[in-house]
Amino acid sequence: MAKIFAIALNKGGVGKSTTAAYLGAALARQGKKVLLIDLDSQRNCTDCFPPEIYGLEETGNPENHVGKLLTGAITVTKAVHQANDQLDIIPSHKDLLEYEEAIANKPRREDLLRKAIRSYADENYDYVLIDTPPHLGLATYNALYTADYYLVPVTAEYFSYDGIDALIRKANAVTEDTGLEFAGVVLTRYNEKERGKALQAIASAIKEETYYKTFKTYIRKNAKIVEAQIEHLDLFTYAPESAAAEDYTNLALELMDRYGR
Ligand SMILES: Nc1ncnc2c1ncn2[C@@H]1O[C@H](COP(=O)(O)OP(=O)(O)OP(=O)(O)O)[C@@H](O)[C@H]1O
Ligand SMILES: [Mg+2]
Repeated sequence: MAKIFAIALNKGGVGKSTTAAYLGAALARQGKKVLLIDLDSQRNCTDCFPPEIYGLEETGNPENHVGKLLTGAITVTKAVHQANDQLDIIPSHKDLLEYEEAIANKPRREDLLRKAIRSYADENYDYVLIDTPPHLGLATYNALYTADYYLVPVTAEYFSYDGIDALIRKANAVTEDTGLEFAGVVLTRYNEKERGKALQAIASAIKEETYYKTFKTYIRKNAKIVEAQIEHLDLFTYAPESAAAEDYTNLALELMDRYGR
């Protein structure tokens, strides 16, 4: 059985794609079989890995992607690309919204990803992480309906957790159908130098808002993350000794303590 996590927040730039890519890579480094699914047309999680794994010479739209999987044009085995021995990814496409429009009138449209991947995922992976766009549209719904848990990255900045109550409300409705559970908040881009009253106030506000379900591991602000993304290299290939690699490894270990080694 796979443990499936939707990484979601209807707020831009909080570290969803970065967390999906590098928490996934960190779990893979711990020997887990991991599948990443990029459900955002921005393609950021897809582009955290070398274009060659999608059969491309430079970054662009892979021929087989999550949009085609949702419409039923391809099966899951065709959508899956191998990043390394332990890590696979179903990439996204810049025109994903057109594929979303194509499924918008289908019955049980929020269940199409689950139907396409759930049994394959259970047979082949320990962990599945789904990256979602910064709004609560059909893609995010498909992620929530597919997932066992949802995990919310939040930057330690005022306003960054603005949308969290809306997300929790929507997710609670999904919980009634599927049993979806809230895994908790991960603080990202945490700047140790700014440690002070304001940051502490924000961290405790986030905790209150989320019933104190916060991961112990914080992801520190680290330039290696941006550099690795510019190079389209896995963080553990580009900067295995970085603070970022250490933090995402610790987050992977914390997740495995909770959900299974
Ligand atoms: N720990 C970190 N240290 C430094 N930069 C970071 C860190 N985490 C993320 N970033 C940078 O912050 C930006 C936003 O991160 P990311 O793309 O992961 O957020 P997102 O929530 O997926 O955004 P969107 O809502 O647009 O999809 C990116 O440029 C990324 O490189
Ligand atoms: Mg993103």
